[in-house]
Amino acid sequence: MTCEIRDILEKAGALMLSFQDPKVSSKGEHASYVTDADVAVQAFLEEELTKRFPGVLFLAEEQENTTLTDAPTFIIDPIDGTTNYFRRRSASVISVGLVENQVPAFGAIYDPYRNDLYHARRGHGAWLDDERVHVSDVPFDRALIELGSGPYYEDLMALTGRTVGELLPIVADIRRSGSAALDLTNVALGKSEGLFEWMLQPWDYCAGALLVEEAGGRYGAIMGGAPSFDHGTPFMAANARIFDRLQAELQRIRELCM
Ligand code: IPD
Repeated sequence: MTCEIRDILEKAGALMLSFQDPKVSSKGEHASYVTDADVAVQAFLEEELTKRFPGVLFLAEEQENTTLTDAPTFIIDPIDGTTNYFRRRSASVISVGLVENQVPAFGAIYDPYRNDLYHARRGHGAWLDDERVHVSDVPFDRALIELGSGPYYEDLMALTGRTVGELLPIVADIRRSGSAALDLTNVALGKSEGLFEWMLQPWDYCAGALLVEEAGGRYGAIMGGAPSFDHGTPFMAANARIFDRLQAELQRIRELCM
């Protein structure tokens, strides 16, 4: 599976980087964009994955999505970090998760700028290329927390700002990369301790959630329980040491804003 996916993702990455001047369109909401490269990479992935895995279903960012069933379904973000991509920040990845019975069974995140493939299969650990990776054991007060600012949701902006203000004095610092999938690779590699966003979509977190879990961390819905894999969720992931504390702090901060 991983070799086949690597081949497809490397070709998809080459396609992504081949656009010299990507055409950017607004998706309607504040700061929400799609490029012709997103659409082309998604079409390429769906075509190639269907050839290798006939009959498999898809849920993907740049399509009219159907409801997730228990059948094997690829959940795809063709370019996670679209704004980074067309602003030439070299911080965007391709994210492909495979969900079976509505739970991630396989996840791959490909960084075409560095030729890095992060991958995980349920029960078989998390990997960067051929190297096993693990979350950190850094405690909460020394944690780097990755933040997704959810710029599309005006009703969540005050909550996001308040969350930063409340967390800054009690953790080491906050990071904002512009790609949730990339953030989740950082958590899985122990380069940061957690990620949260008050509304995130399954294609942003499907592959990365499994990567973090297989690296020894945890993921979930901020208000408790498992996140949905067919619609947006207030999402978080963290190393095992700080997960409960981060979740409790986020829930406390949300109460403050109610
Ligand atoms: C976005 C990135 C970003 C997150 C947004 C996502 P996209 O994905 O993951 O970090 O904050 O919520 O939509 O739109 O660039 O694929």
